Amino acid sequence: MADGRFYLTTPIYYVNADPHIGHAYTTIMADIVARHHRQLGEDVFFLTGTDEHGGKIATSAEREGRTPREHADLLSARFRDLGGVLDASYDFFIRTTDPEHEAEVQRMFQALHDSGDVYRGSYGGWYCSACEAFYGEGDLLEGRLCPIHRTPVEWVEEDNWFFDLPAYRDRLLAHYDANPDWVQPQARYNEARRMIELGLEELSVSRAQVEWGVPVPWDPEQTIYVWIDALLNYRTALGYARPGEDLVARYWPPDLQLMAKDILKFHAVIWPAMLMAAGLELPRKLMIHGYVLKGGEKMSKTTGNVVDPFPFIERYGIDALRYYLAREVRFGEDGTFTAEGFEGRYSQELANELGNLLNRVVSMVGRYRDGVVPADAGDEGELAAEVAAAVEAARGSFARLDISRAIEEVWRVVQRLNRLVEQRAPWTLAKDPARAGELDATLHALAEGLRIVAILLWPVIPGSAERVLAALGQDPAAVALERAAWGAGAPSARVAPSGPLFPRVEEAAA
Ligand code: MSP
Repeated sequence: MADGRFYLTTPIYYVNADPHIGHAYTTIMADIVARHHRQLGEDVFFLTGTDEHGGKIATSAEREGRTPREHADLLSARFRDLGGVLDASYDFFIRTTDPEHEAEVQRMFQALHDSGDVYRGSYGGWYCSACEAFYGEGDLLEGRLCPIHRTPVEWVEEDNWFFDLPAYRDRLLAHYDANPDWVQPQARYNEARRMIELGLEELSVSRAQVEWGVPVPWDPEQTIYVWIDALLNYRTALGYARPGEDLVARYWPPDLQLMAKDILKFHAVIWPAMLMAAGLELPRKLMIHGYVLKGGEKMSKTTGNVVDPFPFIERYGIDALRYYLAREVRFGEDGTFTAEGFEGRYSQELANELGNLLNRVVSMVGRYRDGVVPADAGDEGELAAEVAAAVEAARGSFARLDISRAIEEVWRVVQRLNRLVEQRAPWTLAKDPARAGELDATLHALAEGLRIVAILLWPVIPGSAERVLAALGQDPAAVALERAAWGAGAPSARVAPSGPLFPRVEEAAA
């Protein structure tokens, strides 16, 4: 962002079951974006966490014979562990059971009440407990099934506190009109705008029958609707993530909020209306990504068709999973996870095209030049220009959040460097002392090209990119994007051979 800071959020995940590849996907994509902005030299704050209140969590705790708190502690820790295993560089992990969060939710809710936007009423509707949301009869699938989960809904009638959502219709539409890029991609913007146009209903924002939640401050018989509690996390976290520091002043509003399309309405309709009611600035952009599918269906714990990310990470390493998801699933569209597709990209792209290239370059520099990368004699201008064009294209794709496209642009350089090895055949050049200059130029170009590739890929495969830099004798921490320029590496670098970047995974281990 123009002001040099970048506040980025993921949804906070429900602690009703173990994390799966769908959750991993959002966190990984957010981490890629966060790292890219750090590479640009921006002051980044990256928030993720868990959503722990509500009837759905209480029910899943009961099923497991635990108290809601025991259950939330256990499952929240698994999401936090997953974040670590994913190499996600988040700055704070919020839990909605944090006392600081709860206190601030109460304070903000009281303020909405005081300003007249929250009032008492009664309501009956079809409720999906997996969504924690009411649906109109017309929204349901045949047989009274939830349109998201395809599970039965139940009729719920209560006296509740309400939020006057319809009162914000015109202001919301004006905001959409003034900010045509506010929701990405365009189809989701249109969808959200249509929801507002078609008419909004009053929103029931408290629950009389759900005990596991934050009490309504002036009516402790009721708890605050879990979605209100959850959405406010994006704001409350800044109040206590770093005690003694005013992160609200430094980072509000979020520059980018990521989520899948299942929770579009909450973030693109209800959330901005709540912020308007509270007199707070709205987030600058929402990016709504697609679903990671398995067998044509959204991977979801409610439907049970989930893939556990941990075994893939154990076998192939986290960067393989990050790379696969970021490249395979076009950001904003649905994509399918298959073990075969994963293994194919691992062995063809990561192991052969990138890993072998590094291995060849490092061993040729070792064999032919005593391990020191030759200096640039300036005779690879054409290649340098091609690489510079790829850097520009990849940066542009990152800026448009087209991450898979950015990776494809970098990969063209990887393939170009592989072709260079074949065309120049350094092993032949090495036999002819008259062609020493040509060999120097080739080895330099390969090392320089790979160094730039590593910097560009760092947001996607951070650990591996750092290993590439170290193997080339470069500072593994030198990943700022301004270093992705021909000739910006450390001169006379001494290569440091190491094991294969992406080792072959034996079939027997399958
Ligand atoms: N707790 C709410 C969000 C509150 S945010 C204020 C919630 N939690 S969830 O555990 O169901 O997570 C939903 C989010 O997880 C999705 O919006 C998406 O970011 C991610 N995904 C879960 N399954 C996914 C796929 N199969 N594919 C892609 N993303 C997935 O909703």
